[in-house]
Amino acid sequence: MAIRVEPSGAACGARVTGVDLAAPLDPGTVAEIRKAWLAHHVLAFPGQTMDDDALERFTLAFGGFGEDPFFAPIPGRAHIAAIRREADETSPIFAENWHSDWSFQARPPAGTCLLAIDIPPEGGDTLFANQHAAWDALSDARKADLGELVAIHSARLAYAPDGTYGDRDKGRSMDIRPGDAAMEARTHPLVPAHPETGRRGFFSTLGYIIGIEGKAQGDAIALLKDLQEWQGSERFVYRHKWEPDMLLMWDNRSVLHCATGGYEGHRRELHRTTIAASP
Ligand code: SIN
Repeated sequence: MAIRVEPSGAACGARVTGVDLAAPLDPGTVAEIRKAWLAHHVLAFPGQTMDDDALERFTLAFGGFGEDPFFAPIPGRAHIAAIRREADETSPIFAENWHSDWSFQARPPAGTCLLAIDIPPEGGDTLFANQHAAWDALSDARKADLGELVAIHSARLAYAPDGTYGDRDKGRSMDIRPGDAAMEARTHPLVPAHPETGRRGFFSTLGYIIGIEGKAQGDAIALLKDLQEWQGSERFVYRHKWEPDMLLMWDNRSVLHCATGGYEGHRRELHRTTIAASP
């Protein structure tokens, strides 16, 4: 089956039609989708009638399930979490800061899939920032300063008991499970080469990155703040607008993403899987 791929016109993102994701995919179609995913980093599949079985099958076709800490899965599924906000909920929007999913893991997920379950009539867009573009646009001198740095990642600011989603986070309908495991830290190059394309780009950002090896903490945070502003510059960003019956997949190795609000009084729910890192 030949898929149709329409680029968004922004720094990343494309809309893919001509494929029915409710049915099993043949290897040729999987290969075409993978090629489009690596080229555009974020793919939106509108008009799909997928259920959770189809979401799992799709995720398995692209590399298997990642490991999802700090969320309870939805009942009856080991690998699907609900990104949910009730119409009357007042807690801060989940994931409203730029991040790459689970970048603090030893083997962070290659990608994430989100399936629209309940989409508000307005707002709730997801933003993506192309981190290859953010790297490519730097001067050679700046690249030389940053290119060999090693970033320290941790979930502690978000999921430790005293983190954003820890003990003081009340009234949230999402089933988030903070814990002491969030205190662990791991390192990754700040600007790795993408394992499939070889293109360099920033991996993750301040938040899950809590320091830089060999730099004093104050200097590291000042640099990370400055970089975060650059990484999320308008010219690198694609604003994804949700539609009912839509599946979205993105490449965590090449984009940052964040949620947005603007749908007060409306319910929003998406089912989420992560795609494991390639072996
Ligand atoms: C996420 O970061 O996984 C959620 C994105 C969104 O809710 O738009």
